[in-house]
Order: sequence, then structure tokens, then C-alpha cells
Amino acid sequence: MAKKLFIETLGCAMNVRDSEHMIAELNRIERYDLTQDESEADLIIINTCSVREKPVNKLFSEIGQFVKHKKKSAKIGVCGCTASHLGEEIFKRAPDVSFVLGARNVSKITQAVNSEKFLDVNINYDESAYAFGEFRQNPYKAYINISIGCDKKCAFCIVPHTRGEEISVPHELILKEAEKAAKSGAKEIFLLGQNVNNYGRRLSGGKKEEFNFSQLLTQISKIDDVERIRFTSPHPLHMDDEFLEVFSSNPKICKSMHMPLQSGSTAILKAMKRGYTKEWFLERAKRLRAFAPQTSISTDIIVAFPGESERDFMDTMDVMEEVRFEQIFSFKYSARPLTAAAQMTNTLDDKTASARLKMLQERHAAILDEMTPSYADKIFEVYFEELRDNGFAAGRTTQNNTVCVKGGKELLGKIKSVKITQPQRLILYGQVI
Ligand code: 5AD
Ligand code: SF4
Repeated sequence: MAKKLFIETLGCAMNVRDSEHMIAELNRIERYDLTQDESEADLIIINTCSVREKPVNKLFSEIGQFVKHKKKSAKIGVCGCTASHLGEEIFKRAPDVSFVLGARNVSKITQAVNSEKFLDVNINYDESAYAFGEFRQNPYKAYINISIGCDKKCAFCIVPHTRGEEISVPHELILKEAEKAAKSGAKEIFLLGQNVNNYGRRLSGGKKEEFNFSQLLTQISKIDDVERIRFTSPHPLHMDDEFLEVFSSNPKICKSMHMPLQSGSTAILKAMKRGYTKEWFLERAKRLRAFAPQTSISTDIIVAFPGESERDFMDTMDVMEEVRFEQIFSFKYSARPLTAAAQMTNTLDDKTASARLKMLQERHAAILDEMTPSYADKIFEVYFEELRDNGFAAGRTTQNNTVCVKGGKELLGKIKSVKITQPQRLILYGQVI
């Protein structure tokens, strides 16, 4: 009889893919069916994120709940970035956990599950060329890792300490995976890495990859069954004209770009070690919209980084006004161990941080309210990938807007022209034409 697996995935798309890899690897040896109910699971895995402090605290209370409700024989494993970061400490704080597996050690999941107690959080382990088993939670969209780790040293970010140095996956493997996924129905290929547009920096063993990111995108677009290509996250520093040219001119590349700003203040960007200024970022965003005017731009913003003055914060507000991002992921700065910023003493109080976050989010909601009516009566190509309640099917435009229409599973996996009838801030309602 198949075993039951409860897997909780926190954090970013890289973690989503790591969870898929774990499910695939486990199923190579014996069958595991997924369950949403931890009390019937034989195996409970928490795939963690450590980018901010809050989720880390939540982890231990959650493990406590799992211990209370789980089957007696069920094992609990902690994987992902918090596993890399806390390592053995997890066993000390939660003795019922039977394995701790770091973010760069996913291929060892079977070994971990079959051991009495297992710990491996080596951030130098290189599984960039490992051929994982096949599993996709969404049959219409294929996540594919193109690199692991990150070489940047952003002062706030713990990721280089949990996912190690940046190594690209050889292009032959990526192309093979994309071909296979597209043939089996995934019209959309979603390339993943901490720093995707730095692709080709180094291969396993220090060899040189012959393709850069722009060339990789071009090669993937030549696969017949691939209709859409997305990627996350690019770094603004590597958005050169060659990249913008390929991005804008290739019709298979979705016209939505994530440009993580982090701060609009040149002084704060310097303290963050981001490598660009306010003006430089604005120029790149402008250039992107000049190359591909229909592109929607999303961003990440951190407020109240140590030393952020009112004027610095106003620079961030200013960039938001100028670029008019379609989507913003905004966070209060959270001090993370092992990072350069954790040593900074000029920290801000939580009241100021909360007030700034609120102001930023409210202004952004108002910007969206100004933009939303303009979607009415427009026609978009929508790739349907999900059923919603009350007889709606949901999909995305190439600009990454969510569109809902009345309809069922006959729409899934199809690209249809949709006329927007009722645009709302987060969902555009429309009709297939
Ligand atoms: N505090 C707050 N936000 C952070 N991020 C990364 N590290 C921190 C931190 N220490 C945010 C950044 C990044 C996103 C994934 O999470 O904006 O782009
Ligand atoms: Fe963190 Fe910077 Fe790497 Fe992104 S690019 S993961 S923000 S260090």
C-alpha cells in the first residue's frame, strides 16, 4: 500500500521545485501519495525558508503541532534554508525531528528518510548536474532549476549562507528537461535561480558554460512545444541591453519582469551592497519599457534597513511613483544571522518600520486602483492552469495578471483570447472570445 506524505513548502519558487524533487526522489523507491492531512501521514516534511525571522520562529511551534497530531510511527523531517542555517540545533529544540536536510542536499532525501537520525546541511554539496526524478505539481507549468546558490553578498540576505556559491546547471540538461516537460503538456517553462541572468557564471568543477542567460532563453524558445517562458529572479545589475533586446524581441518570453529594487536610496543601496544607484535602476526600468512597452514590472522592497532616514525612504516612494510597478513584495527589514547587516547598530524601531511599510503598501494599492480600470475591454492571451470555486477557471496573461472566466477543465492547458469585462485589483474577470 502507498505511504502518505504531507509536505509543507514555505518561501520561494526554488523551494517549490525542491519539494517536487523530493517527492520524485521518494517515489523512485516506494509510492508516496500526497495528503493535506498531517494526522494520516507516514512522513511529514517541512521545506523551510529563512529569509526573514518570523517564519523561523513559526517553525518550532508548527513542529510541536505536528508531534501532537501525527501518527505514532510518522517521521518528521526539516528541509530547506532553515535546515541549512540551524542544522543540529533543530534536533536540540525539536527532538522528535528525525532528519534535517539542507537546501543543497535535496538528492539525499531517500537516505535521510531511511535513516534513524540524519543530518546533512553541507552548503558546498554540488547537485547542479544531478538528474532528479520527475514530478510536477502543476502539469501545465514546468519549473526548471538553471542554477543553484548565489554569489552576491547583499548585506541583508542569508541565502548565500544557506544555498552556497552559485553554480549553473549545464545547458544540455536544462534543454532536455524543457523538451520533455513541454512534450508532456507544460506549455510554460519557468526557469529558476537565485540570480538567473547571471547564468553561465560557473559550472560544476569550475568549467565554463558556453551559453549566457540570453542565449539560454533563445535556445529554449526554439523548442516547438514551448509556448511561454518565464524566469525568476533576475538581478537588475545583469539587465544589460543584450538581455533586454532578447527579452523584448522573443515572443515566447512572457512580458513580465521582476526587478528587485530593495531600496530607492543610493546611500541605502550602497549599505546593502546592491551594486547600483537609484538613477541607474530608474534608467534600466525606463530602458526596459522602451524595449518592450507592454512589460509589467514587479519588485521586492525592504523598508527600514539600518540607517534608513525619512529621506531615504522617500527615495523608495519616489522610485515607486516613477516606475509604477504592477506588483510589489514589500517587507520590513529583518536582521538575519551571518549577514553583514546583522552587525549594523543603526537599526530602526518597529513603529517606524511598520509606518513606512503601511505607507508604501497603501500608496501602491492606490497606484493599482488607478491602473485597474484601464484593463476594461482589453483582450489578452490567457494560459489557463487552475480551476477556482463557483465555476471559474483561472489563468495568466503574459504580463502575469490573473484572469478568471466562467469555465471548467476544458480550458486547462489552453491559451485563449479573453476580453476583460470586470477588472479588479488582483483579478481581471473576463470572457473567452
Ligand atoms: N529582511 C527583509 N526582507 C528580506 N529579503 C531578503 N532578506 C531580507 C531581510 N533580511 C527580501 C528581499 C528579497 C526577498 C526574497 O526577500 O526583498 O528580494
Ligand atoms: Fe539575496 Fe542578493 Fe542573492 Fe537575492 S541576489 S538571494 S537578495 S544575496
